[in-house]
Amino acid sequence: MAYGLLSGKRGIISGALNEQSIAWKVAELAHAEGARFVLTNAPVAMRMGEIKKLADATGAPVIPADATNDADLEKLFAESVKHLGGPADFLLHSIGMSPNVRKGRPYDDLNYDWYKQTLDVSAMSLHRMLQAAEKAGALAPGGSVVALTYIAAQRVFPDYGDMADAKALLESITRSWGYRLGRSKRIRVNTVSQSPTMTTAGSGIKGFDGFYGFAQAMSPLGNAPAVDCAGYCITLFSDLTRYVTMQNLYHDGGFSTTGATPEVVAKFSGA
Ligand SMILES: NC(=O)c1ccc[n+]([C@@H]2O[C@H](COP(=O)([O-])OP(=O)(O)OC[C@H]3O[C@@H](n4cnc5c(N)ncnc54)[C@H](O)[C@@H]3O)[C@@H](O)[C@H]2O)c1
Repeated sequence: MAYGLLSGKRGIISGALNEQSIAWKVAELAHAEGARFVLTNAPVAMRMGEIKKLADATGAPVIPADATNDADLEKLFAESVKHLGGPADFLLHSIGMSPNVRKGRPYDDLNYDWYKQTLDVSAMSLHRMLQAAEKAGALAPGGSVVALTYIAAQRVFPDYGDMADAKALLESITRSWGYRLGRSKRIRVNTVSQSPTMTTAGSGIKGFDGFYGFAQAMSPLGNAPAVDCAGYCITLFSDLTRYVTMQNLYHDGGFSTTGATPEVVAKFSGA
């Protein structure tokens, strides 16, 4: 059921790689809620061709941009203003990748070139996007920016490796920009901290299956599906949340504040 929450709004959505992607679900819901938007992803993601399906279904143009490349971002925001006929009311940052995690390098044996890449792709890219967007006048006053994060920024999950550091940086960048954009243009900037989700980025993490089950058993509502994460993002893009900014908002079925559940404790009974 649609509510018209984004009726008349314009946006920019990054990170839709395939139907499992959280950004894909955000794009589908934003379309259903009445928004017009452009899609963007790394040029390499275009080769997979999946995004074309989403573009066709939502009527959104696709503007390739590597989020670590300032020239690409400059072009992205200039073109988005042209396509949308003005600045965007919302921006989704749904980008993450760690070469160390992908290639199984543990935290105590990191490749530092890859570590820099992890931080650049997964965190600095938000800074780069906002800086480029502001210079291009591509964000409208009263707008909303959401970036996706994970609770490993607050607590240790060993297999999340250097992505934990990237998420901590991402959340800090969110506050720093949120302060500035709030004062200058009443633009809010938040992170949504999502449950483990079966996507390309998620399942690239060692032991993801076991961990997914653990989080499921530790969350009173169970793991939050991607489509519900999208719903939460839509509320943050809407006018119903105009005073929510600089927050890290958990969308995790209650995982972040649960200490123990009978299912998990039962595994240790008699141990
Ligand atoms: N899946 C999970 O369990 C989970 C949990 C919490 C948070 N998140 C976060 O959600 C976000 C989206 O991930 P997802 O789970 O939908 O997986 P996904 O693999 O579908 O999305 C990740 C996206 O990042 C894009 N990307 C990578 N490098 C890029 C670059 N240089 N420039 C531009 N785009 C680039 C990829 O092309 C892809 O579209 C990420 O920030 C991820 O860390 C995921």
